[in-house]
Amino acid sequence: MPAAAPAAPRGAAPAPPAAAAGAAAAAAPPAAAGNAPSVAARAALFGTAVEQLEEVPARVVGSIPDWLKGSLIVNGGGDYTQMAHMFDGYALLSKARFEGGAAWGSQRFIDTEAYRSYRQQDILAIATGGGSFTDNASVSLHAVGPAGEGGRRPRLLAVSETPKASYLVNPDTLETLSKATFPDKVKGDLTTAHPTPLSDGRLLNFTRSLPFGGFHIFKQDPETLARAEVAFLPDRRPLTPAWLHDFPANDDYAVIIEHPLYMSLPSLLFGTPKPFVFMDWLPEDGTRITVVRLDGSEPNRVFTAPPFFVFHYSQCFEETTADGTRQLVVDMAAYDDPAILNDLMLQPLKQPSGQVSRSYYKRMAIPLTGPKGGGGELPAPSLLVSDSNDFCEFPSINPSYRGRPYRYAYVMSAVRPTNMGNALSKIDVATGETLTWYMQGGAVGEPLFVARPGASDEDDGVVLAPGGGPDGRSFVVVLDAKTWAELARAELPFATPNRFHGIFSPGA
Ligand SMILES: [Fe+2]
Repeated sequence: MPAAAPAAPRGAAPAPPAAAAGAAAAAAPPAAAGNAPSVAARAALFGTAVEQLEEVPARVVGSIPDWLKGSLIVNGGGDYTQMAHMFDGYALLSKARFEGGAAWGSQRFIDTEAYRSYRQQDILAIATGGGSFTDNASVSLHAVGPAGEGGRRPRLLAVSETPKASYLVNPDTLETLSKATFPDKVKGDLTTAHPTPLSDGRLLNFTRSLPFGGFHIFKQDPETLARAEVAFLPDRRPLTPAWLHDFPANDDYAVIIEHPLYMSLPSLLFGTPKPFVFMDWLPEDGTRITVVRLDGSEPNRVFTAPPFFVFHYSQCFEETTADGTRQLVVDMAAYDDPAILNDLMLQPLKQPSGQVSRSYYKRMAIPLTGPKGGGGELPAPSLLVSDSNDFCEFPSINPSYRGRPYRYAYVMSAVRPTNMGNALSKIDVATGETLTWYMQGGAVGEPLFVARPGASDEDDGVVLAPGGGPDGRSFVVVLDAKTWAELARAELPFATPNRFHGIFSPGA
């Protein structure tokens, strides 16, 4: 079993959940029955979306701040016909635009080759759907193109985990503009959907060449999309490379965290069943952590740690401790093992029973001083929460605090029993205190912070998240980032299926 066992849930002092009224509740909601998304909510999440090309007014319940001007655009699956896993749905963009206290909604499929083949009833395309080697760009969105007023860029890059699953889309109309091309010679068959934006505007990411390859870490020009390789790190198991969904990074360092979750190439190519989708878990290997200085001025520092599994990292910043030790602080939503991958199979997701795997907001401190090359053992990541919240996903922060010390994280959480995330929490990493917003029988997605114009406090703004009510109605919820009270909900007159990652596009 993994050694990185989180503390068992503590306390759980019964307190009424914030429920649909949307008041803030201080952590530890009760373990009431039937907290999982309702039948209607799940039907909306994993059904087939109907496109809404023209913006239509949303019904606003509550009061949206007048200053909120821009669009929450979120990528995710839009059609799960004959699919097996939450990650497989064909890419659909959904949008909620806010201005003057009102809101409008629209949604549109991305015009990928995979989706076009499916629409033409190409059986092979259906069978290979959203697999790793298709161009189904369903995971995330990144602003690219020349920076205009307020730093707004005119295009969005929709991506998934293969370089060919990269499409340029128009943030105003959601139209697919073109397949993205990269004018460079960077090798690789896989990538991540989680590039780190650097302060000079470039994007930091890596591709994977395999087998007998490794991590090609690159910086990408946001206008030309040209990638320049800055470092290469060989895989620790050349025939069975570790699978990484994300990696912590900042302007100076990239950290490659190889959990002992290894891709099976026969499974990827031929669909051979494996314990974790297309992967094997070998906890005896522990986790290999490599710190790469991006300008090459320091040798890589390599550490081992107990096994753990992470989809998403929220932070990576450098600090000097009281005794003068330089270290990188890495924060994440961490699981003991990759069982969450099986939780996200559609068959269990569509059932109201079962429990989503436990995960916690955690921190690792990685020394930047000491023996060159590292070589040390690191302890398992440690808890950053002091309450009983035992599900954490989609961790996010105020983006202007990226790469530097911060205080507040915003995460998807869970009020159990449930087999999916159904709540949103604000975590104070200084105190471990957690505030939770929750809607019984509903579902929610990734929280994104938007600062109030002129704000100076880190949490002065709102957090937006897509969600679905127990009646199957889709909405975007607007939470006060300071108090965690629900300010408003923009209810959309159409169903939006399961969402992954989004972006707030300011302005019109
Ligand atoms: Fe992700």
